[in-house]
Amino acid sequence: MKNKSLVSINDFTREEHIHILDLAGAFERRPKQRILEDFVVATLFFEPSTRTRLSFESAATRLGARVIGFSEPGSSSVQKGESLRDTIRTVSNYADLIVMRHPREGSARFASEVSKVPVINAGDGANQHPTQTLLDLYSIRKTQGTLDNLNIAFIGDLKYGRTVHSLTMALCNYNTTFHLVSPAELKLPSSVKMHIKEKQLGYHQYTELSEVIPKVDILYMTRIQKERFQDPMEYEKVKNSYILRNNMLDNAKTNLRILHPLPRVNEITYDVDDNPKAYYFTQALNGVFVRQALLAAILGVVE
Ligand code: CP
Repeated sequence: MKNKSLVSINDFTREEHIHILDLAGAFERRPKQRILEDFVVATLFFEPSTRTRLSFESAATRLGARVIGFSEPGSSSVQKGESLRDTIRTVSNYADLIVMRHPREGSARFASEVSKVPVINAGDGANQHPTQTLLDLYSIRKTQGTLDNLNIAFIGDLKYGRTVHSLTMALCNYNTTFHLVSPAELKLPSSVKMHIKEKQLGYHQYTELSEVIPKVDILYMTRIQKERFQDPMEYEKVKNSYILRNNMLDNAKTNLRILHPLPRVNEITYDVDDNPKAYYFTQALNGVFVRQALLAAILGVVE
């Protein structure tokens, strides 16, 4: 993995995914190791973020790296009209690795092609969010004891939800049965469904959340991605399609865990947070260990 960019979840093999999860486990046991003291990590966020940016910065800092970058493009020369090409070429002279979030699909691939240093995609529009996928896999394996043969439900915005796209692709390696719950307007794109079909895995589509709760091991809730809608009226029609409340979990399997990449708006009520099945805040914590593993592996300080 040394010097490899991570743009799509499929840039790394199944074996490399597992290796990152194993390394993340080691960082969870021992998170403060100053193995990146000689490195500079740039975090370039052209879109808002709390978890991804701060967990990358926490991961890098805990390993001794220096972090440079910006959290919104208005404070950079992008504001003066500088192109993405020139921004990346410049920053790749200043840092050993670039973490980038950008609203345009394909921007991370483009950045990796013009950069002199590896680029990690921290979310490119509605396309992919591969580091979220690795922390999701870590969370699933930790809570279920395996990644194999699970029933996984994705709820909400399956059209624009980039975390759903990259996690679906990764789970195709593990004989997953997919349960897809969305409004008709926000179904999983056919380009992502194609990966499920290629592996001849089962998938079932629903419009009602209550139907899937008793059947699944993981309930992966998502926010309706307001910022991706061209027409605000279309968002208004679907914005509160699914709301998970604590009393809806009474007939869930004992091993069921609720994941959400966060932020939530109102798709999980606060009374769920105290249910032992709620795992989303620990899931966000796991992001630090997984991102430590990625930084260390790509910068070549661990095998
Ligand atoms: N899960 C996630 O990408 O969260 P942020 O938008 O806060 O980074």
